[in-house]
Amino acid sequence: MNARPEQPDAPRVVLGVSGGIAAYKACELLRRFTESGHQVTVVPTAAALHFVGEATWAALSGRPAATETWDRVHEVPHVRIGREADLVVVAPTTADMLAKAAHGLADDLLTNTLLTAGCPVVLAPAMHTEMWEHPATRENVATLRRRGVIVLEPAVGRLTGADTGKGRLPEPEQIFEACRRVLARGRLEQDLAGRHVVISAGGTREPLDPVRFLGNHSSGKQGYALATTAAARGARVTLLSANATLPDPAGVDVVHVSTALQLREAALKAVLDADAVVMAAAVADFRPAEYATGKIKKVDGVDQPPIALVRNPDILAELSARRARPGQLVVGFAAETDDVLANGRAKLARKRCDLLVVNEVGGGKAFGQDTNAAVLLGADGAEIAVPDGPKEALADRVWDEVAARLG
Ligand code: CTP
Repeated sequence: MNARPEQPDAPRVVLGVSGGIAAYKACELLRRFTESGHQVTVVPTAAALHFVGEATWAALSGRPAATETWDRVHEVPHVRIGREADLVVVAPTTADMLAKAAHGLADDLLTNTLLTAGCPVVLAPAMHTEMWEHPATRENVATLRRRGVIVLEPAVGRLTGADTGKGRLPEPEQIFEACRRVLARGRLEQDLAGRHVVISAGGTREPLDPVRFLGNHSSGKQGYALATTAAARGARVTLLSANATLPDPAGVDVVHVSTALQLREAALKAVLDADAVVMAAAVADFRPAEYATGKIKKVDGVDQPPIALVRNPDILAELSARRARPGQLVVGFAAETDDVLANGRAKLARKRCDLLVVNEVGGGKAFGQDTNAAVLLGADGAEIAVPDGPKEALADRVWDEVAARLG
């Protein structure tokens, strides 16, 4: 992907980098910002420059990277950087930087920027588990969150050296996604924090012989949008992906399946401890009654006999009927070509789910597109029209309803 030229009205992002080994990952974050047309000013601390040098930041951002308040004072008064920013993100944020931010210290350009910023501030911490769990850090994080600063949860995984635990910098893709949401929405809901959600995406394939299958046009984009938005809202996400060719979203557990029977098996297992399940996948209602182990060959002058089909289980109806946990929410999708709302209402009643996202398909609508319009029907009588917009916007609307119902 080539960098998009900066637009004069492009969002102005300050990327602060404090001195942790994960500083190198901020290069990838910076690249994502510049490639999507943001104007980025990098403000590394002196310690960060031990890990990644000034030349790298300047080359990747296309502008000088200053560290101290007295660097280039004639061009960039230190208060202007924070005042003019649309977003300040600090990645990685060390325990020391969290403490400075919480206590309002201002001994270099980054801490000055944090004190003068009137825009949303996102901090992506990275440190050893003991430091993250220390009462001093806990209190600093609580103070910052109380003031409206968005402190992302560190990831769990391999830390510097051999130790593993909580404290890893979230993947640059996840930080970028959080920032993009904050720029677009002005906030970052964490209303799914502590929840486990299971999402199915894509379309199942029912094999006929080793080279052929019965399938459908589902690209998986809507299900993947549900997964990334749920993860950004703090959920633990299991994505059951049926033949989608999209890259695995960062921070999401992806289980790849192909047939309806495989999807059913994976779903029954994943929902055991789930708070909500959303069946966005297009599941084949039928599969060939028999699978030919060798390629079915044509014979000149002989018509191919009809292919016998058998019904696949209705996974959504089964999940609704036997909720794996009390209070578990089940959400279905309905793809309809005619009498969209009437068919949707009948399907909601038939499948006994809590919410049904009804969308019109065919004629170039929904399948494979980046946008979608829908009506959300609730078993409680709710009827919410979601206008045509990005699949992420529809996904967020679904999560709004799920979060409200989970309480
Ligand atoms: N679904 C499922 N198992 C199936 C078929 C569908 O779990 N065997 C789920 C889909 O994931 C979706 C919902 O049921 O959430 C509705 O899918 P849709 O294809 O619109 O409905 P069908 O059940 O196929 O009904 P119809 O053929 O009457 O439109």
